[in-house]
Amino acid sequence: MNLPEKVKIVEVGPRDGLQNERQTVPVEVKVEFCNRLSAAGVPNLESASFVSAKWVPQMASSAAVMQAITRRPGTIYSVLTPNMKGFEDALTARADEVVIFGAASEAFSQRNINCSIAESIERFRPVARAAKSHKLRLRGAISCALGCPYQGEVPIEAVVDVAQRLAELGCDEIDVADTIGVGTPAKTARTMEAVARVVPRESISGHFHDTYGQAVANIYASLEVGISIFHSSTAGLGGCPYAKGATGNVSTEDVLFLLEGLGIQTGIDLNAIVDAGQWISAILGQKAASRAGNALFAKRNA
Ligand code: HMG
Ligand code: MG
Repeated sequence: MNLPEKVKIVEVGPRDGLQNERQTVPVEVKVEFCNRLSAAGVPNLESASFVSAKWVPQMASSAAVMQAITRRPGTIYSVLTPNMKGFEDALTARADEVVIFGAASEAFSQRNINCSIAESIERFRPVARAAKSHKLRLRGAISCALGCPYQGEVPIEAVVDVAQRLAELGCDEIDVADTIGVGTPAKTARTMEAVARVVPRESISGHFHDTYGQAVANIYASLEVGISIFHSSTAGLGGCPYAKGATGNVSTEDVLFLLEGLGIQTGIDLNAIVDAGQWISAILGQKAASRAGNALFAKRNA
C-alpha cells in the first residue's frame, strides 16, 4: 500500500502531556501552550480533560483553560469525557470533540476508570448519544492495545472487540493506544490491520507512547498499512498516571520530522512546534524529550 499523502496530527501535549506533571502547571501556562500549538497549525488539539480532580489533580483547571484559550478557526478542540458529568462540563467549555476512553485490558480499565470494560461501554452510551444530539465529534480511545502494565499481553481480539463496540456507539475516530509504549512495528501493523477489518481505516488513529523508543517505527508501520491519523505530544511530554513507568507520547517534533522526510503533509509548522516544545520544557524545568526538537533547536542556535 502507498503511504498516505496527508496525515492528521492530534496534539495531546496539553492533556496527555501535562496530566502526569507533578508540579501544578498554572492556567496561564496551559493557555499559552494551547495557543502556541494551535497557532502552529495543529488541526486537533486535545486541550483538557473533564475527569475527577481527585484522580487527576492536574486536570482540575480544565474549565478555566478552555475558557481562556484563543480558538483558532480550523482547530478542533477535544477533551476527555469519561461520563455524563464530564460531558456536561465539555459542553459548557465549548469543546468540539469529546473523547470516551476505554481499554482492551480489564485490569487497566479497573485501575484507570474504576469499572470493567463492559461497564465502561454502558457509561459511554449516554455520552455518545449526547455528543450526537449536540452535533459534537466523538472519539473513542482503546488503551493498552499493544500491552498492559498489569495484565501483560493483550490479545488482538480484545482490541478488535472494543473497537467494534466504540464504532457501534458512533465514534467518528478510534484511537489505538499503546499506553506503555511496548508495541513494536510488526505487532502494530497486525493490530491496525485487524482493527481496520471492523472499522473504516481512515477513522483509525495511532496513539503511541515512546517508553521503549519504538513510537516512530510504529508510526511508520501504521503508515504502511494506510493509517493516517497520529497522536503526539510536543516535547514528548506526558504519561498516564495509571501506567507507572510509562513515558510520554512520541514527540510532535519527531513525528513531523519523520513525515516531512517522507513528503507527507500535515499543515503544521515544525519550527513553531520546536519553539513551543523548548518553551514549555524550560517552564517545567526539564529538557525536552524530543530528539528532533532538541537537534533542530541546537542547530538553529549554533
Ligand atoms: P468513580 O469514583 O468510579 O466515579 O470514578 P463516581 O461516579 O463514583 O464519582 C466519584 C467522584 O468523582 C464524585 O465526587 C464525582 O462527583 C466525581 P465526590 O462525590 O467523591 O466528591 N466525578 C467527577 N468529577 C469531575 N469530572 C467528572 C467526574 N465524574 C465523577 N467527569 C471516573 C470514575 C472515571 C470519574 C474516575 O475513575 C476518573 O476520573 N478517572 C480518571 C481517569 C483518567 O483521567 N486517566 C488518565 C486519562 S486516560 C489516558 O491517559 C489514556 C489515553 O491517553 C490513551 C492511552 O495512552 O492509553 C487516553
Ligand atoms: Mg496516552
